[in-house]
Amino acid sequence: MNKPKYYSVFTSIPYVNGEPHIGHALEFVQADVLARYARQQGYEVLFGTGTDEHGTKVAEAAKKAGQTPQAYTDKMSENFKDLIKLLNISNNRFIRTTDKGHEQRAAIIWKKLEADIYKASYTGLYDKTQEEFVTETQADPARLKPDHPQAYERLQEENYFFRLSKYNDQIKELIKTNKLRILPEGKRSEILSLLEKEGLEDISISRPTKSLEWGVPVPDDKTQVMYVWFEALMNYITVLGYPENEDFAHYWPANVQVVGKDILRFHAAIWPAMLLGLGIGTPQTLYVHGHIVLGGGIKMSKSLGNGISPKEVVDVYGVDAYRYYFLRHISSQSDGEFSWERFEAAYNNELGNELGNAVQRVATMITRYQNGLIGDMPSSAHDTSQFQQALNECKFDKALEEVWERVRGVNQYIEEEKPWQLAKAKDDDHLREVLAYAAGALLGIATLLEPFLPDTSAKITKIFKEGYIQQPEGVLFPKIEQHPAEVQEPKKAKS
Ligand code: MSP
Repeated sequence: MNKPKYYSVFTSIPYVNGEPHIGHALEFVQADVLARYARQQGYEVLFGTGTDEHGTKVAEAAKKAGQTPQAYTDKMSENFKDLIKLLNISNNRFIRTTDKGHEQRAAIIWKKLEADIYKASYTGLYDKTQEEFVTETQADPARLKPDHPQAYERLQEENYFFRLSKYNDQIKELIKTNKLRILPEGKRSEILSLLEKEGLEDISISRPTKSLEWGVPVPDDKTQVMYVWFEALMNYITVLGYPENEDFAHYWPANVQVVGKDILRFHAAIWPAMLLGLGIGTPQTLYVHGHIVLGGGIKMSKSLGNGISPKEVVDVYGVDAYRYYFLRHISSQSDGEFSWERFEAAYNNELGNELGNAVQRVATMITRYQNGLIGDMPSSAHDTSQFQQALNECKFDKALEEVWERVRGVNQYIEEEKPWQLAKAKDDDHLREVLAYAAGALLGIATLLEPFLPDTSAKITKIFKEGYIQQPEGVLFPKIEQHPAEVQEPKKAKS
């Protein structure tokens, strides 16, 4: 059977009202693994990400900074681009929702959905922090008090509504039959239970310009702008040039959309309903990651100002160590914890002592005993089905565990075969065989690692691939004498 040629993966697009933090970075890195893995499998890959720039939150942050929203978002969006570069993310699209093309295509989409849009009045609550209309039953009683720092706004306004309720059963069916596969299982059942027990209600999808000017105008109505979520969700297809561009034909429906657990409902209910309204396919897989908490279960948030900046971690440990920690030690299925101590332990033990050492030892012995010549390396005959299945289920942690089994296997093999004794006994044939086997196994490991740790993978490959040792420029994961937690309390990210 011929493989389909195209593959697409998207992250959610972060708001630009604050500095990027390790939560945003998690999503970029996870999606990057999927994109790189698909490329390895021979697909043409479109990997989209970007920034969400309209809405109350961003407008207020701009005002606080004393800037126009445009100038503010121009500057803040760059911070996310910098993060993407820092983390070696291989996206080939980056959309800003203030891009003219996005705004124009959003208007086209709105018009196409007009059969499902009507005007009505909305009386109720608005949660600025989440950019969400909140029903009385969903409301947190504490935030109903006007003096609460995150008090809801009380709105009474004329809005456009979208007939979300109409699509309840169709969406339920798509999810039940796994035509829209939601991972992990817990998130799938969460949304199914919402669809079955509560059901979807129509939602407000615009704001009057007298309350909020910073948004995409509703076509043919200068008094309204689109509700930020309704417009932002469209980015996944406006970035492909929907409706007429070839990219849209090739890359939609998305193979995977990667989002955090707090925005499940938007992506598993509202977005599929919009797509059904447009008469186009829904994503094949929606992967929902958990949240990163700080040591001791402390939630990281802009309002607490306790976000860890990815740069301070990368500056000390390097980008691949960063990617490794968040892919392996933050559970792919639930929330996970970041602490400098846990990070340092993973760096020293797994990257330094296990992977780094295996590479170093094998390269050194081949250099010492065989003048650098490796000879014929048997290609690794290991079964990779578990690894593949883990990636297919977006279990990044499990996939890396599989790779580490092999890394440990190489170290154990060397301990058992004791090449230094073979050298002493001048058992050259056996020695060559053992070292070639170990080098071949490390090359196999490098291939599996490429989507996760691209630089490290390239370094290992370079050392062994020619059949003789190309001396590395230094050890893969040098000892870090002083990690930041010893020097200072973790820095607070600017909020
Ligand atoms: N702008 C919307 C998304 C629109 S998509 C059409 C948004 N932005 S956000 O900046 O608040 O969040 C972006 C992503 O980062 C979300 O998937 C969210 O779950 C994720 N994270 C934010 N904080 C996080 C952690 N502490 N941990 C892990 N991911 C977190 O929502």
